[in-house]
Order: sequence, then C-alpha cells, then structure tokens
Amino acid sequence: MTSSDRLPSDRILVRGRVLSFKRRPHGAGDTDAYSYFEDGVVVIEAGRVIEVAEGGEIDRLGGEGIVLHDFSGKLILPGFIDTHIHFPQTQVIASYGEQLLEWLTRYTFPAESRYGDPVFAAAQARFFIDEVLRNGTTTAVCYGSMHKGSAEALLAESERRGTAMFVGKTAMDRNAPPDVLDNAQSAHDDTEALISAWHGRGRQKVVITPRFAITSTPAQLEALGSLAQAHPDCLVQTHLSENLEEIATVGRLFPDRADYLDVYDHYGLVGPKSLMGHSIHLTPREIRRMSDSGAVAVFCPTSNLFIGSGLFDYKGLEGGEHPVRIALATDVGGGTSYSMLATAAEAYKVMQLKGQKLSAIEAFHLMTRGNAEAIGEPDLGRIAAGAHADLVVLDSTATPAMAHRLAMGSSSLEEELFVLMTLGSERNVCEVFVGGRPQGVQKAIA
Ligand code: GUN
Ligand code: ZN
Repeated sequence: MTSSDRLPSDRILVRGRVLSFKRRPHGAGDTDAYSYFEDGVVVIEAGRVIEVAEGGEIDRLGGEGIVLHDFSGKLILPGFIDTHIHFPQTQVIASYGEQLLEWLTRYTFPAESRYGDPVFAAAQARFFIDEVLRNGTTTAVCYGSMHKGSAEALLAESERRGTAMFVGKTAMDRNAPPDVLDNAQSAHDDTEALISAWHGRGRQKVVITPRFAITSTPAQLEALGSLAQAHPDCLVQTHLSENLEEIATVGRLFPDRADYLDVYDHYGLVGPKSLMGHSIHLTPREIRRMSDSGAVAVFCPTSNLFIGSGLFDYKGLEGGEHPVRIALATDVGGGTSYSMLATAAEAYKVMQLKGQKLSAIEAFHLMTRGNAEAIGEPDLGRIAAGAHADLVVLDSTATPAMAHRLAMGSSSLEEELFVLMTLGSERNVCEVFVGGRPQGVQKAIA
C-alpha cells in the first residue's frame, strides 16, 4: 500500500523548524551535513516518517481527520539517543566523594542489589522511561542489574511505551557482594533467554553485557564471547580504561593479555557491535585495535568529570592515524544528568581542557544520527522518509536566561544550538513523539 492509499486519519503532522543530519559534520559551519526547514512539516504514518515538507504545503498534506501538532517556531529534532546508561543507578546519581572502584563498592553494588525484586524493578522502570523521555531521549542503550528480571522489567516497560530500548542483564561473577553476583553459566543462559524472548520483539533489543573485566572471570568472558559470536546482530557493551586503578587491577587479573582491550578481544568481545564505555586511557596499540575492529569508544563526559576518571581524547581518537568511532552518552548514575544537552555541554568543556573544539552541529549530530550509526540503527536518529517517528521538540528560549541570551538577535542556527547545548536541560523539551505518538512530557514537567 502506498502512502496515498492509506486512510487520511492514519496520518499525523508535526509542524516546526525541522533539523536532521545527513552525515557527520566536518567542524562548525558544515551546513551541507544537515537539512533544515525553517517552517517544516513532518508527515507521519504508522509510526514512521513518510516525508518532510515545507509548511506552505500543509493543505496538500492535511485533510479531514488528520491530526496537526503545531510547534511553529520550535525546533524539531530526532529524539536523542543515549548510548550508555545504567537503569539501576537512578538512586546512585549524585553520590559523594569516591572514584570508580570505591564508588562501585560503596554506592552502586548495594543499590543494584535491590533490583532482584520484580515489583521494585517494574516501578523503577516506569520512573526511568519517564525520566529519559522528559529529557528528550527516545532510545537508550542500558545496563540492567545482574538480575535478569531487571532487564525484563525495563524491556516490558519500553514495549508498553513504544520506545526502542537496548537492554542487557549485567554479567558479573566476582569482586562484588554475593547478592549481585551470577556465574559464567547463568550469565550465559540468562542472556540467551533474554535474546530469545526479547531481541527484535517489536522495537526492543538485547545487549550482551559483561560489566567489566574486574567483575567477570575468564570463564564468564568466554561464555559471553561465544554468545556474541552466536548472535552477531546483538550489541556488546562493557567498560574500558576508565580509571587508572581499574586498569592496574585488570593488568593484575589478566597478566597474559597485552592490555585491557586485549582481555575483551581474547574472548571475542571486540568488533563493530562493541560499545566500549569511557575508553579514556587507551594505549597506542589499543587505539589501533579499536580502529581496526570498528569498536565504538563511548564518551561519557559528565561521568568522567564527576567520578574524576580523566579527559577523553575526542579529536585524538576521531582524527588520528587510526580513527576510532565515537558515541556520546550520559552514563547515569556515574554521570550527573539524564539530558543529552547537558552531556554535550560537558563534552565541550572536557574538549576545551584538551585544547579541542566541539561545534554545536557536531554535538547535535552525535546525540542523534551519530549515536544511531554507532549502535547500527540507520532508521533512528534522523527525520527523513522511512525513519521511525521519534522526535523531540525543543524551545531554545524556555528559561529566562536562555531567552535573554538569544534576545541579542540575529543568532544563526548554529549559535542557537550552541546556547541550547550549553544552557539546556529538560526544561527546553516541549514535547516528545515516540513512533509518532506525543508523550505529553511538558505536562509532566509543569
Ligand atoms: N565500571 C564498571 N561498572 C561501572 C559502572 O556502573 N559505572 C561506571 N562509570 N563505570 C563502571
Ligand atoms: Zn557505565
């Protein structure tokens, strides 16, 4: 059936200033990297974008029974994508005074132990999806707790809401309290059962998730590596070279491996589907191997600053002799904000400290199409025919300080985007559409 054969009432129109990326921008001013309609209309049917047209064509596009959401003057972007966030850390965020290993022991493992209770996990899943949507994030790649039920709770809630979530049961079988430990066999079997039940069910996907080398035995890494080989369409997520004490500990636990990345590589966990959280303190060999394998370095700036882990070398990795793919993420609850806008602001500051620049169009590309490409989902992160109709509507003047800043006049789109990422938060999110359906997030904020 072509779009013109559909009943008119299947159609939803969203009008506003529509911005979507065509490719990765090469620095500020690369206007060819995106399409922008000052007055545009996103035409949606059956959860997908059919076309993006000029606002002046609204009469051709509309008709009886067709719903129009008029956000004229507001920015309409693809819903943000968060490529690394911990579902069971919503009550860990903002925990005082520790660096990674102590932070895990003191705050994180105790908090995650509660997710064995399915009623608690289900309630937390509702909060989690509410919160990411309030921030304009429509897809996230999530760590659950060790408990399979935590991943099930989040996948079920996401299915109910229509969002596309990528979720892993976190595998960990040593160096943590007994109530958050599994074993090599159960981690394999639970993850495999999740894949059978949930991977590709509607919009949900399952991620193979060894927490990090310190909390997985060689037997567990081997079991998950064989699972990754058996399911090459599943993402793999883990943590890599975040903190110097962590790296030294991995060296002691795996003395036969060349370096930290080589631990994962040895067990078949490194490839183009691998999301390596943090990747801060990489050696030249690790960078070369990341590049050759197509693995993604996931930049988590608010977390790296908050836990005091270090400064990610964005331009060194992106533009070096051996270029590495990069994604951007919040890493809540090591990270301190659910907002990808706030995350981009901290990315900019980390890069300033490294003598590097992150233009607004590079940052907005990362939050949308860049992150979609990093997770291998070409129908996410863009507003164009065929893409999922996951949208965020942003008001750049939502706060007095932002309205005042932009009242200087004659701001270019790039300048407006830079103000939005530097000062922005969930307060700038007017509405979010998931599969073409408005979520009413602005009412939740009021
Ligand atoms: N390394 C292993 N687990 C974690 C975690 O939960 N958060 C962060 N930031 N790093 C980790
Ligand atoms: Zn993390």
